[in-house]
Amino acid sequence: MNKIQIAGKEFEILLENDQISKRTRLIAIQIDVDYESRCPVFIGVLDGSFIFMADLLKEIHVSCEIGFIKVSSYSGTESTGKVKKIFGLPEYLHNRDVIVVEDIVDTGLTLNYILTEIHKQKPSSVTVCTLLLKPGALKTRIEEPEYVGFEIGNEFVVGYGLDYDGLGRNLKDIYRSKTVAVP
Ligand code: IMP
Repeated sequence: MNKIQIAGKEFEILLENDQISKRTRLIAIQIDVDYESRCPVFIGVLDGSFIFMADLLKEIHVSCEIGFIKVSSYSGTESTGKVKKIFGLPEYLHNRDVIVVEDIVDTGLTLNYILTEIHKQKPSSVTVCTLLLKPGALKTRIEEPEYVGFEIGNEFVVGYGLDYDGLGRNLKDIYRSKTVAVP
């Protein structure tokens, strides 16, 4: 399927599941090397990261712990720019190696907030693994994510965990729309 419609909007294919899988395996190999003989804590950012997190962690072989957090900040495709609250952050991050797993980093505001909260616990290290990065859209001075699946343009994407107004998270591939306003 090269084109699909979601809630009356047309989307075209951007990344096929095969490409995503191959890139995910390479990232996992890199993380395994970088964290050899450590026991990192992976923190997935819900809802968007749930598929990437599962596929990535199946390829990770180092001993590790896994948690999920949720940050309330968006509705529809419009960013309020204000991150309200973080839910479910593990409280045992002191002296731990933390890897935050994101579906997409756009303005970086969400990530900035998450990193600030995590740093309060004084972990040994914090790195970020994001499937998608929109470099042109960064509005905050965040540290560059260490592990990036794909850099994409300033366009709205859906599928593989990412939604358009709540829909499309279950699509295997990632689609783009140039007509939907970027958050
Ligand atoms: P940021 O705070 O602007 O970096 O945005 C991060 C969050 O916005 C992501 O975790 C997504 O939930 C959402 N988001 C940003 N861009 C897109 C997109 O193109 N499609 C779907 N969700 C997006």
